Amino acid sequence: MKILLFGRGGQVGWELQRSLVPLGELIALDVDSKQQCGDFTRLDDIAHTVRAIAPDVIVNASAYTAVDKAESEPDPVRTINALAPGVLAQEAKKLGSWLIHYSTDYVFDGSGSKPWVETDLTGPSSVYGLTKLEGEEAIRASGCKHLIFRTSWVYAARGSNFAKTMLRLAQERDRLTVIDDQIGAPTGAELLADVTAHAIRTALRQPELSGLYHLVAGGEISWHGYACYVLNLARQAGLKLKVGEDSVIPVPTSAFPLPAKRPLNSRLDASKLQTTFDVCLPAWQDGVERMLTEILASGK
Ligand SMILES: NC(=O)c1ccc[n+]([C@@H]2O[C@H](COP(=O)([O-])OP(=O)(O)OC[C@H]3O[C@@H](n4cnc5c(N)ncnc54)[C@H](OP(=O)(O)O)[C@@H]3O)[C@@H](O)[C@H]2O)c1
Repeated sequence: MKILLFGRGGQVGWELQRSLVPLGELIALDVDSKQQCGDFTRLDDIAHTVRAIAPDVIVNASAYTAVDKAESEPDPVRTINALAPGVLAQEAKKLGSWLIHYSTDYVFDGSGSKPWVETDLTGPSSVYGLTKLEGEEAIRASGCKHLIFRTSWVYAARGSNFAKTMLRLAQERDRLTVIDDQIGAPTGAELLADVTAHAIRTALRQPELSGLYHLVAGGEISWHGYACYVLNLARQAGLKLKVGEDSVIPVPTSAFPLPAKRPLNSRLDASKLQTTFDVCLPAWQDGVERMLTEILASGK
């Protein structure tokens, strides 16, 4: 089997390079790839690349993910998040290939407190959310076999992430303020990549599983609760923090005005995925604890 991966250098793309290798021949591209085009702003070249490689499975981990910057430059965001996935989908349809794609909790308006299911009405409030939804719609409209995984609050040990930022700030400051009215589930890139590989194996045998799935770690937490969890683990591991346990202050979203509106309710119900693909999604704490152990051990 031949797999073509786009976005190999991103959080999820990096982990997919590991998890997809046992499935077959893996060709992994990024925006800077030289031999073949992995730049989603060059739509004709992307179509040509897919045709030339003729993969059995296309996995798209590329996206424009800078949600605040996206508000001021919607055109390139739409090209990368909506038009390019549409091109991949059309080429996948012509080849009879599968397209695997990631989407986001930002497709919802963030109202209420119930976990969103796949059939709930969407209502994005940001350029990022809107263009990710348009990408989903382009894939569905193409008629190609696809798996779209909507996820939330993605982190990876590699590169920067929320936990690393909290650890740094907690060593520099004696007081932190963290948002406590946005609720979601921190989801590790490792988990996304492993479940993706499992789902591809299953779907190749059962094309009727083509569709949209929510994929997040189990449980829920606010950013404030997430920060406290990380800092407590760090204290237990012996890291010296300047901030005291009572000095991590919960604040509403309005305390940090940002260009892109964030959903308050980012809960995603992943029951459909767990039942369909017979997987158990671990509690969010499992992956965060593992990531933190790696960070603390490496001293980064
Ligand atoms: N991060 C989250 O919290 C989150 C939450 C929900 C859903 N998702 C979705 O999950 C998927 C993976 O996200 P991630 O967290 O792995 O994102 P990421 O770390 O920001 O990676 C995105 C990848 O896209 C690449 N990219 C940027 N511009 C490109 C272009 N013009 N052409 C081709 N590739 C380009 C980046 O390359 P460079 O690094 O070279 O720019 C990077 O490899 C995305 O679909 C995202 O929308 C993410």
